[in-house]
Amino acid sequence: MTPLLDTMEQLGRQELEALQIERLRATLRHAYENVRFYRESFDRAGLRPDDCRTLADLGRFPFTAKADLRDHYPFGMFAVPQADVRRIHASSGTTGRPTVVGYTERDLSTWADVVARSIRAAGGRPGHKVHVAYGYGLFTGGLGAHYGAERLGCTVIPASGGMTARQVQLIQDFRPEIIMVTPTYMLTLLDEFERQGIDPRTTSLEIGIFGAEPWTEEMRKEIEQRFAIDAVDIYGLSEVMGPGVAQECVETKDGLHIWEDHFYPEVVDPVTGEVLPDGERGELVFTSLTKEAMPVIRYRTRDLTRLLPGTARVFRRMEKITGRSDDLMIVRGVNLFPTQVEEIVLRTPGLAPHFQLRLTREGRMDALTVRVEARADSSPQVRDAAAGRVAAAVKDSIGLSVQVEIVDPETLERSVGKIKRVVDLRSGPGVHV
Ligand code: DLL
Repeated sequence: MTPLLDTMEQLGRQELEALQIERLRATLRHAYENVRFYRESFDRAGLRPDDCRTLADLGRFPFTAKADLRDHYPFGMFAVPQADVRRIHASSGTTGRPTVVGYTERDLSTWADVVARSIRAAGGRPGHKVHVAYGYGLFTGGLGAHYGAERLGCTVIPASGGMTARQVQLIQDFRPEIIMVTPTYMLTLLDEFERQGIDPRTTSLEIGIFGAEPWTEEMRKEIEQRFAIDAVDIYGLSEVMGPGVAQECVETKDGLHIWEDHFYPEVVDPVTGEVLPDGERGELVFTSLTKEAMPVIRYRTRDLTRLLPGTARVFRRMEKITGRSDDLMIVRGVNLFPTQVEEIVLRTPGLAPHFQLRLTREGRMDALTVRVEARADSSPQVRDAAAGRVAAAVKDSIGLSVQVEIVDPETLERSVGKIKRVVDLRSGPGVHV
């Protein structure tokens, strides 16, 4: 029987912090000695790696932004000779050059370890069958989940994304206990089960490990009830590793434990960059502690959350991500994240969990329309009432007047991976979403 906790998960807080500072100093040295970008940026700040003596000292070091990675496209941030890079991944991003990341053999092994640990925290055990419906390829989701599940001793079904009818067939025939997929693609699968006349509550699935995009507690409830499974959150980003940077434990479902023996978190004020105390909301920043091929120092994720003390594990937790600063919409001066609308839509009777946000410009004013699908059994009266409720709830909780359009079932585009919630139909300069 595999122990439920690995050695690192059994450390005390002090031992963990001692390990972190040792690893942090080694990482700063490695980055400074082998990556020109870090050498120059530390020099500009007048700092040497050895100036970091405590974990708090890290806050004096400069940040790294996504643009820095793009500027050094493709391999300028690598800290090892190319022959030692065993794999490359890249995230496409919305504009311009992709961000390229590299892994040594040891990095790949670390990654498999943290994903194995994540699956175990989600309730996975050796011998379980894991259906991986994250995309395989340059995206880190598929291969990251894959090697972690193998490392844990699971049987992997590498389905990748897409071909939804076949996914349902595979789940019916191979009977996996676990599925790893984006939450919005899980909804697409849900529709397909129903279309094929299969009750989603009757599948072999027991656990869903969902991530790669923000999702709310309301979405958790929806998926758990409709599939009769436990739904837990997995977080990660390619620049830091891929999936498996943080994971929610199935026994508590109270936020994601950051695997702090490999990834050191800080939360900073998104505007001033000041480090915030645990418990305060801000932008998540990561420093890798063991990465060889591409160490990252104070990488600004743009993801918004707060750090909380450990519960089921000694590692600190991050609250479920409410949004990234990139997703923030400012409509007529009001700030709004798509997840805020998700909460409202999923709470409203008669509505399906499929919605889209359309931004238009009327004269000089921005306007937001929430398009939501009705559930198949919703009467016209229920639809009308739902539209009114959503508009009122958005006005009440966010302070914005929006139009709500209820559309027929199965009319909005379905997700096959990360969903794009916002359609920006405004044109002209100065547009920001
Ligand atoms: O999405 C890695 C991943 C794959 C994570 C599969 C989990 C599962 P990127 O494509 O580089 O990597 O995108 C990273 O996705 O900065 C967040 O904004 C968002 N994200 C990832 N996981 C979550 C999550 C992968 N659980 C970006 N909740 C991150 C909210 C998430 N947002």
